[in-house]
Amino acid sequence: MNIQSLRGMPDFFPDDLQKWHLLEAVFSQVFHAYSIKEIRTPLLESTELFSRSVGNSSDIVNKELYSFLDRNNKSISLRPEGSAGVIRAIIQKKQEHEKHKLWYEGPMFRYERPQKGRFRQFHQVGVEYLGYEEGLSEYELLSMVIKINEQLGICKYTLKINHLGDIQAKENFCIALKSFLEPHLSVIHQLDVARLASNPLRVLDSKENSTQAILENAPRFEDFISKKSKLFLQDLAEHYSDQCDIKIDSNLVRGLDYYTGLVFEVVSEELGAQDAFLGGGRYDHLSSELGGKSMPAIGFAVGLERIIELMSVNNNSLKTKVALIIVDEQDIEKTYKIAHTLRHANLKITLDAFLSDSSLKSQLRRANRSECNFAIIIGADERSTGQYAWKDLSEAGEQKLLSFEELIEVYKNL
Ligand code: HAM
Repeated sequence: MNIQSLRGMPDFFPDDLQKWHLLEAVFSQVFHAYSIKEIRTPLLESTELFSRSVGNSSDIVNKELYSFLDRNNKSISLRPEGSAGVIRAIIQKKQEHEKHKLWYEGPMFRYERPQKGRFRQFHQVGVEYLGYEEGLSEYELLSMVIKINEQLGICKYTLKINHLGDIQAKENFCIALKSFLEPHLSVIHQLDVARLASNPLRVLDSKENSTQAILENAPRFEDFISKKSKLFLQDLAEHYSDQCDIKIDSNLVRGLDYYTGLVFEVVSEELGAQDAFLGGGRYDHLSSELGGKSMPAIGFAVGLERIIELMSVNNNSLKTKVALIIVDEQDIEKTYKIAHTLRHANLKITLDAFLSDSSLKSQLRRANRSECNFAIIIGADERSTGQYAWKDLSEAGEQKLLSFEELIEVYKNL
């Protein structure tokens, strides 16, 4: 029997990765502009890290964690997200008193039911601002989110924001919601009854009509948060209203337990059911809950498989690629030398030396297929006159003969 990949864990081939590399280049440009440094943490962490951060009552820990015992009978898990590991690393290095602006990229693992836009191994790029109180950091992060979308050519999206207040407000609201819903348990969906017991906030974003109907008259979150928090949320919405479609959504609670304060999500109708391609918020208590010193924090993560669906880049923005074609096997040795000289003349250009003696036609076909912009042909002309054919592979398809010096000059200026 052939061995297959695990469900929801796709492979990425070179053709798929071209777009990924562009995406990564945009992220690295933006992070450079915002002075954010990279951090890398392990894929495997102790299970306790996630149960104490993402939360025991969250779906992620409850149903979706890839957990197993290692050879020493310790329960370990593949990370379902990146924030917990970053905070663990900072606490371990005793750096909670410093300010950090960090980003990371890598695979995350959640045992979810695979479907369009939902994988069991997926990738996130995340940003965490640590040591920054509520205020300017919220503005900086939302500006960055808008900038990332702009750089990727994504214009149709909605930025949903909400404020979860402080821990006390969250607790008071949960008590009020529970007592409001108690008399209606027989009518609301079974799943939501279970949620109400384990994580009452999650009932708010229930997809069940029966639950949503009852919720119409339920206590409202905004009545439990301070005036200051409400004003802050409104100011944010106003500030960005001319830059993107921004909406206050009082049902936005997020699926991870660690949030207080601002939470946000970016959604696009073009993605279908799994419409969120970015999510984040403030989580000021995570450091102390994990045994570290108190450290305010806020961040977000982008789902790369989802954002890549929305990215509009044309192939012109991919780097220039040149095919080096030889028509006769006896030229192979010369080709090595030419390729070496050209690559040293301009390292920014991809030179794909085909090093094969198949026909010129089939090599040109291959050059087109692999999206080369130009081809250098070493053949009869080169042997008789010392000139190289330089062929434009775009529709215009011009071809000229160049001396070696002219070829280097053209190549340098691509
Ligand atoms: P999250 O909302 O759970 O937040 O995930 C962030 C993004 O990851 C989602 O918006 C989505 O695009 C993508 N994502 C999540 N699950 C899947 C999946 N199964 N398949 C494909 N994409 C998926 C967090 O993970 C937080 N750690 C974000 C954060 C950072 N909050 C503060 N700092």
